[in-house]
Amino acid sequence: MRAMHISSDHPLLTRIVDDLATHGWSQHDVFLPAALSAALAADCRRREAEGELAPAAVGRGQAQEVREGIRGDHIRWLEPGESEPCDQYLQLMDSLREALNRGLFLGLEDFECHFALYPPGAFYRKHLDRFRDDDRRMVSAVIYLNEGWLPEHGGQLRMSLKDGVEHDVQPTSGCLVVFLSGEVPHEVLPANRERLSLTGWFRRRGNEPF
Ligand code: OGA
Ligand code: MN
Repeated sequence: MRAMHISSDHPLLTRIVDDLATHGWSQHDVFLPAALSAALAADCRRREAEGELAPAAVGRGQAQEVREGIRGDHIRWLEPGESEPCDQYLQLMDSLREALNRGLFLGLEDFECHFALYPPGAFYRKHLDRFRDDDRRMVSAVIYLNEGWLPEHGGQLRMSLKDGVEHDVQPTSGCLVVFLSGEVPHEVLPANRERLSLTGWFRRRGNEPF
């Protein structure tokens, strides 16, 4: 597969930046090429089979604990250099990071991300992606990896927008959703089939003195 770096002034990225500036969120049903989505889904399934995914915890640092009544997904954090499809995804997200910095002056310095696998019945209760004691997460980006997803499968991402409006996203393969981490409460509804995604956060520098 070829390199996936795209220019930070690509119209697709510019649209995401404009959407975020005006609405605080953006959705693209066809963001990843189908071959890359399929390769990422296969990578996630291989890691699951090899025991690399673990139940996700809530909270941060010493207060972290697994609580399936809040979130029931299994995750694996990504590092560069682990697989070709993951590196392509990381390159694309880096182009998006540059576009966000150019257009919104957010000073985003890094990107942390994980595969997430929700077994049937698992969910993630309504939350914000910013921690009370750590406000470095600025922008959340979720990419879905599920072929042939139908509304009756459940598993929607439900975002709570302004004025009590709710917006549901179907977790279909190649779809990207981006939103301001500290401003859009959201939840993952239970599904009746396995649900795969790649979830990541663009972060600014922390306030630590050193
Ligand atoms: C999260 C999250 C949304 C999704 O991992 O914080 O909200 O649709 N994920 O998977
Ligand atoms: Mn979230």
